[in-house]
Amino acid sequence: MEFEDISADIESVVLTKEQIAEGVARIAREIERDHTNHTPLLIGVLKGAVMVMADLARELRIPLEIDWMAVSSYGASTKSSGVVRIVKDLEISLEGRHVIIVEDIVDSGLTLSWLLENFASRQAASVRVAALLRKPEAMKVDVPIDYLGFDIPNDFVVGYGLDYAESYRSLSGVGVLKPSVYGGS
Ligand code: IMP
Repeated sequence: MEFEDISADIESVVLTKEQIAEGVARIAREIERDHTNHTPLLIGVLKGAVMVMADLARELRIPLEIDWMAVSSYGASTKSSGVVRIVKDLEISLEGRHVIIVEDIVDSGLTLSWLLENFASRQAASVRVAALLRKPEAMKVDVPIDYLGFDIPNDFVVGYGLDYAESYRSLSGVGVLKPSVYGGS
């Protein structure tokens, strides 16, 4: 697919590259304030969090470690199934660590709520959550977000790591996908 075709599938821009950079920098300053005496372990949820992790990790002016987890996600649908399955588990132990889960987007909150429950038994010293985007109107479960980039409307968005059927992840901004792309009106 050509880049021009990808852009043509976007109905409206929600966040520009510059706005995202400002949000990531703001999150980084907040994390730095809370992690002055220890090395946090940043855990990214694949694949959506790849872009925010790459930018956030480079923006942070403190020592840190990174690990990844992959859980089952939407596939080619635009609605959360609520079914979470570990596809790739962590390689670094959480025991005694100050953990920051790095999420691209919190939609229904089901994935995050499941992750927090799963991590509860792994003896971390603390578990915090950083999410670039949140859709408050879509949340089905109340999950605490310690570091938030932006609240966005309840539309299906792509770009900056977020996909529809594995496409659009490489767009540098975040935009609403035309419903016609996924068979809507
Ligand atoms: P949840 O509904 O909060 O469990 O969202 C789980 C995952 O679904 C997120 O981490 C994203 O990978 C994906 N997701 C949720 N909303 C969107 C969206 O608007 N566009 C693309 N992916 C999304």
